[in-house]
Amino acid sequence: MNEDQLIDKYTSDRELLELITEATQDGLWDWDVTNNNVFFSTHWKKMIGYEDDEIENNFNEWLKRVHPDDVEKAMECVENYVNGRIDTYENVHRLQHKDGHWVWVLDRGKGKFVNGKVIRMVGFHTDITEQKDLEYQLELKVHDEIEKNKQKDDMLKQQSGLAQMGEMISMIAHQWRQPLASIASIAVTIKIKMALASFDTSNQKGLDEFMEYLNTEIDDIENLVQMLTSTIDDFRNFYKPDKEVAHITIESPIKKVLSILKPQIEQQIVEVSLEYLSTRTIDIYENEILQVILNIVKNALDNFKERDTQNPRIHIKTEDIFGKVIVSICDNGGGISEDIIGFIFDPYFSTKDNKNGTGLGLYMSKTIIEQHHKGKLSVQNKNDGVCFHIILEKQ
Ligand SMILES: Nc1ncnc2c1ncn2[C@@H]1O[C@H](COP(=O)(O)OP(=O)(O)OP(=O)(O)O)[C@@H](O)[C@H]1O
Ligand SMILES: [Mg+2]
Repeated sequence: MNEDQLIDKYTSDRELLELITEATQDGLWDWDVTNNNVFFSTHWKKMIGYEDDEIENNFNEWLKRVHPDDVEKAMECVENYVNGRIDTYENVHRLQHKDGHWVWVLDRGKGKFVNGKVIRMVGFHTDITEQKDLEYQLELKVHDEIEKNKQKDDMLKQQSGLAQMGEMISMIAHQWRQPLASIASIAVTIKIKMALASFDTSNQKGLDEFMEYLNTEIDDIENLVQMLTSTIDDFRNFYKPDKEVAHITIESPIKKVLSILKPQIEQQIVEVSLEYLSTRTIDIYENEILQVILNIVKNALDNFKERDTQNPRIHIKTEDIFGKVIVSICDNGGGISEDIIGFIFDPYFSTKDNKNGTGLGLYMSKTIIEQHHKGKLSVQNKNDGVCFHIILEKQ
């Protein structure tokens, strides 16, 4: 084939291609790589708002209209294909329309290689703006939903934080009642003794006795104040969010919970039996696990009170089973009715009135165990009460 014949053949090939692309509404481009001459079909130009005579036959006519954010990727694709580094030429980019807006195109092409070099490349532009707009809308929607969920989660966290703070204050108040009453009673006793002139302060002996009496009472007050202070410190440490993972046995947070709840357990005369069989150390956020155990044990105590359970008992058992640490906390408070047991982990589900429960305790506990610790928290009615099982993986 001589050069004229070759040109004739290319031209008739191109006319055929143009016909096909018109039918499919695609724009055709035909790049003579050796002479750096590009033919753009009428439809190619129309797609971005130009008439046939408004675009010249060179590569730059395409390149200068590519969106600045897409240029690098588009050129990389051309170069990789021309140099044989990739087998298919396909990329998506934006081209600027004559009136300024951006048109998304899917650009696909194929080259003719001679001795490993491309001498001609032919391809199509497909307008995918509508599809991209839809994708964008969808992305916006997904982003919106994620944002909404995050806000909901933040709100729950905040509310549960407030609930915990309320709980902390009520526990401090509970633990302060007795020492405060003792301080008040000491003050009253001193006042009475003074009013009754129990010590004869007119002579040295009486004065010494009075001083000695005052000293012992002041010591008592000091001890009681010490108790008040340490209660505050205990609780403050207890509710501090952990940043670091602790490498400990599960016994440690359980013991801390029992020590903090000791006054309530004693007041309600609850028998707590312990079976610490787990010896494995695990990686946990200790304060978070403390809150979970505290919430479960407090729920049991609340329930005993509410139902006036006779001989209330809580049994806590830890075990190592198949590489997992299992904590079971069981009570004999009558269990949870089958109608509601499926909802107790839902946020705001509570059978207590507003001031006694927010219904976030078990929801947050489940989040802590299952999302923060990749474990499992479940519930089951058993015998004459309910059992909560915490399963933690050794990480
Ligand atoms: N040991 C239990 N015995 C009987 N019912 C329980 C027990 N533990 C939980 N429940 C039920 O599950 C419900 C939800 O518990 P959850 O800890 O999530 O919320 P709450 O204790 O009501 O309020 P909060 O913990 O937010 O102060 C409780 O209201 C109660 O009805
Ligand atoms: Mg609770």
